[in-house]
Amino acid sequence: MGKQLIIGSNGQVGTELLSALRAKYGKENIIASDLKEPKSPIEGPFHILDAMDKTAIHAIVKENDVDTIYLMAAMLSATAEKMPDKAWGLNMTSLFITLDLAKEGLIKKLFWPSTIAVFGPNSEHVMTPQHGILEPTTVYGISKLAGEQWCAYYQRRYGVDVRTLRYPGLIGYKSAPGGGTTDYAVDIFTKAVHEGQFTCFLSAERTLPMMYMDDAIAATLQLMDAPKEQLKTYVPYNLASLSFSPEQLAKEIKVLIPNFQISYEPDFRDEIAASWPESIDDSAARADWNWSPKTNLSSMVALMLEGNKSLSKV
Ligand code: SER
Repeated sequence: MGKQLIIGSNGQVGTELLSALRAKYGKENIIASDLKEPKSPIEGPFHILDAMDKTAIHAIVKENDVDTIYLMAAMLSATAEKMPDKAWGLNMTSLFITLDLAKEGLIKKLFWPSTIAVFGPNSEHVMTPQHGILEPTTVYGISKLAGEQWCAYYQRRYGVDVRTLRYPGLIGYKSAPGGGTTDYAVDIFTKAVHEGQFTCFLSAERTLPMMYMDDAIAATLQLMDAPKEQLKTYVPYNLASLSFSPEQLAKEIKVLIPNFQISYEPDFRDEIAASWPESIDDSAARADWNWSPKTNLSSMVALMLEGNKSLSKV
């Protein structure tokens, strides 16, 4: 078996994916890479790597006998709205570099995350189906929808084994999120633990699909392990777990921190969130590769509060 390369291993998902893959396959077999050194030193191979540098990616793949890439580098929804051309450049260029590596037979398998942002205001908002209306309004959503279509094209036309999940908003405490609309549901825990209050940039009732990070990592590993013949939909799979509004989340936090206060100052991100689904139909993932999430709302809240408290003790 060849080695596996994570591009964007310092990011919110990359950090936790790196730990999970290294625990499963051994640290020497998982190559980490990112634009900058990780904030705290990590054991095992790490390379400084720009996700848009084709020559450098080719060199790492060849020198390390890499057969699988996880392309986790991307610009998320809120940041992408501030620099649409850069977001498009990063999200698409990095995808083509890795798809072409697979097309040329230099790697065997590629994981590329997609998102609920591929949906738009005309999509069904409740239990949104995998193949419904896809009319995203953000540059992030447009880039991910285009990317999904390119992945499907490379799979059909060139037989590339590329696997894609539409992640909901991901909630974890081990790594900081970067520029997403769903990230209020991460920041709220840090503020609840340290300040006892939070000002939310979404409105109180804005319900979004969400997931605890451990479930997202488990889904990623499970999809990558699934035999190819089992994947009927192939690209992309809807993925679901939780669904809640800021108001409902705050209520759960108050169960454990009774004095917690939340206030609302919705900004442009509320409009982005309004265009996205409230809940997702992930029946294809459940049927094809046996997906099912483990963490419910109250256990997620308890884990996030505990996690944030333990970090502040370090
Ligand atoms: N978490 C992403 C964002 O908010 C959505 O996939 O941009």
